Amino acid sequence: MSNLLPTRIVNFLEYGWKFTKEDIENATSDKLNDASWEDVRVPHDWAIDGPFSPENDKQIREVIADGILAPIIHTGRTGGLPVFGVGWYRKWIHIPAEYEGKRIYIEFDGIMSNSSIYINGIQAGGWPCGYTSFSIDLTDHITFGDKNLLAVRVEPKPGASRWYTGAGIYRNARLLVKSNINVKYCGTYITTTDISQKCATVNIRTELLNQSNANGHVTLATCIYDPLEQLVAEEKINLTIENEETAVQQLQIKEPQFWDIKSPFLYKAVSSIFIDGELVDSYESTFGIREITFDAKKGFFLNGSYLKLNGVCMHHDLGALGAAINVRAMERQLEVLKEFGCNSIRTSHNPPAPELLFLCDRMGFLVIDEAFDEWRVAKVKNGYSQLFDEWAEKDLTAFIKRDRNHPCVIMWSIGNEILDQNTPEGAKTAAWLTGICHALDATRPVTAGFNTPDNAIKNGLAEAVDIPGWNYKPHLYKQYHLEHPSWVMYGSETSSCVSSRGEYYLPAVEEKPPVMRDNLHVTSYDLAGPRWAYPPEYEFMAQDECPFILGEYVWTGFDYLGEPTPYNTEWPSRSSYFGIVDLCGIPKDRYYSYQSQWTDKEVLHIFPHWNWEGMEGEFVPVHCYTSFEEAELFLNGRSMGKRKKDPSNTFTRYRLIWEEVPYEPGILEVVAYNPDGTAAKTAKRQTAGKPYKVVLIPDRQEIKADGDDLCYITVRIEDENGILCPKANNEISFDVSGAGEFLAADNGDQTSLVLFQSPARPAFNGMCMLTVRSLKDAQGEISIKASGAGLIEAGIKVKSL
Ligand code: GAL
Repeated sequence: MSNLLPTRIVNFLEYGWKFTKEDIENATSDKLNDASWEDVRVPHDWAIDGPFSPENDKQIREVIADGILAPIIHTGRTGGLPVFGVGWYRKWIHIPAEYEGKRIYIEFDGIMSNSSIYINGIQAGGWPCGYTSFSIDLTDHITFGDKNLLAVRVEPKPGASRWYTGAGIYRNARLLVKSNINVKYCGTYITTTDISQKCATVNIRTELLNQSNANGHVTLATCIYDPLEQLVAEEKINLTIENEETAVQQLQIKEPQFWDIKSPFLYKAVSSIFIDGELVDSYESTFGIREITFDAKKGFFLNGSYLKLNGVCMHHDLGALGAAINVRAMERQLEVLKEFGCNSIRTSHNPPAPELLFLCDRMGFLVIDEAFDEWRVAKVKNGYSQLFDEWAEKDLTAFIKRDRNHPCVIMWSIGNEILDQNTPEGAKTAAWLTGICHALDATRPVTAGFNTPDNAIKNGLAEAVDIPGWNYKPHLYKQYHLEHPSWVMYGSETSSCVSSRGEYYLPAVEEKPPVMRDNLHVTSYDLAGPRWAYPPEYEFMAQDECPFILGEYVWTGFDYLGEPTPYNTEWPSRSSYFGIVDLCGIPKDRYYSYQSQWTDKEVLHIFPHWNWEGMEGEFVPVHCYTSFEEAELFLNGRSMGKRKKDPSNTFTRYRLIWEEVPYEPGILEVVAYNPDGTAAKTAKRQTAGKPYKVVLIPDRQEIKADGDDLCYITVRIEDENGILCPKANNEISFDVSGAGEFLAADNGDQTSLVLFQSPARPAFNGMCMLTVRSLKDAQGEISIKASGAGLIEAGIKVKSL
């Protein structure tokens, strides 16, 4: 019978789930009628449905840190969303009789959190940490030839996080039917050695399992396919698997194609098990051939070429979609980051969805894969410190075994701003965790982000990891390098500049801490930040002056849900202000600052907007992010003077500033000059008239009709002449019909309490973002309309194929 079946069946458990956000006593019973429960699709995040409330996960900050001297009550710390409570999921799964004799596994890429998994009323497993991927063997509890009841209890606790976690089965779940002699979950470990243009050695360890009574005599065939799917190496070995066995193989690849950020070539290894010539299981792993080198004096090298790590930290939420993973939403985040020159991600502060690493492999990003935000010393009441002693080794092991084949991963981070860095015991823990990482993967250095480096150095933690990362310490790079010349180091967290897209307040001066405003917004002159923060330029200067520093990881790429510093106690602020782009992915001004530093593009961007009604004659500072050295500003054709980058000044070394431009409506134009004085590029801001029309700009004209693919549509409110109305907040209503559906909308305003699922939302400073999802198997046109009172409506069509 078995040869009639595919060797390994993998079914995504996406549809057909029932969900309730209540703790039900007999939820695992087949007698329970769950007809009244909600129908949901997994990945599912119940918290993103809201509603927002200051009472949701209100946290009293007992741990005094970050310059806060007395306990404070955080309102929107986890987004003001219901990220805690008990939820139950149920799903009936039919397991055909012909699978008898096979093994039935379930794999979860992460459940937020404290999950318990039941099959036919029996608890088969579960995992407390919401970020860990795991697999459970259900076979012994399965009724073959009948339906089986899968029930999952989830219990995220209040006060468990410093940011939005989401809640529920928020990552993919899969059901696997495997032969009883099989390759284990995350069962291959692939490294490459002796790499040259001519050849590379691929070392593959394959973990094999014999769950049968048979003798376990098998042939393991490992085939390697190149990026064009051509077979390039193959090896067969015979072995006997008693219970568990690790097969070790070495294969040679001639003229290998290197994985690099510009040419991310991926190879595929297929591990197949044969018994008496019959294929019984096969397992695919992707990997890349690349060399990473870290030099204490010269920095980072990828395949022998120097590369500055231009990184950002990213939490895992997908803005208006919450934490429920969607591959296109993640891919689009990476596209946005790539566009301003980001080449690396730090997965702050926890293991990401596995899909993120596959995307980084494919799109050419380097990753610092991070495990923990807490060890034994708590930051929040119900944080990881509660689990650390019992689970740290298991979580770290699961994390490294899952991620160690990805060429994108260049370092393992065992922690962020771990408070144990302030204790001598911290070094023992750091050494223990580093040892676990080394034992599981000796090919990558282990790092941690230290925010009190003097303590981390004094207490021995900095030395216990391979590469200490410094959070917010550009002023200390030179000193630490002098004192520890053999240490490789980098800025594991930098800048933490805060802003609300399109908001500008005068005077445009450094705000540290940010000026607290009644509307809970922060100026976008990119000069504001909390006590430990600083504008991007301070870091640029340190990076330029310290070639030994590997690079930086800006806090953060995108705004994220939760941690609305500086408005931690004020409501309704519920998402962060730290992003280079806002929560919906619309660039803030400093996007162009990074783009001018991190890319070869010709960048010329002036701000603020030029609608300062009532301020006629008053001075408005105009700033310019540019890749050019010199530029001249014109107001209604009159020169406001030339500005040249000044290497002696931290700010004007990187941005051009005209402090006193007397406001008058009209056209503000900047002309950038080539070194020979000829005009190279112009950019302008123009005073907008009244809001007149809605304009829709889709990120793609065609999407896939798979029920998952997304179209992101930028919505602009423009005046009669097509100029963005920079203060418009008209409410826009969306109507999506045909082959797609309205999924969510957002406007990047950290204080908006309009649900992301609401098909009507005000624009924020002239813009918002609509997300449309294709319908499964419904090919055709998606018709999208956007209208607002008194505005000419917009209508576009996107194809779903
Ligand atoms: C750091 C911390 C991050 C975030 C950031 C905000 O200290 O590691 O998680 O809180 O500050 O500036």
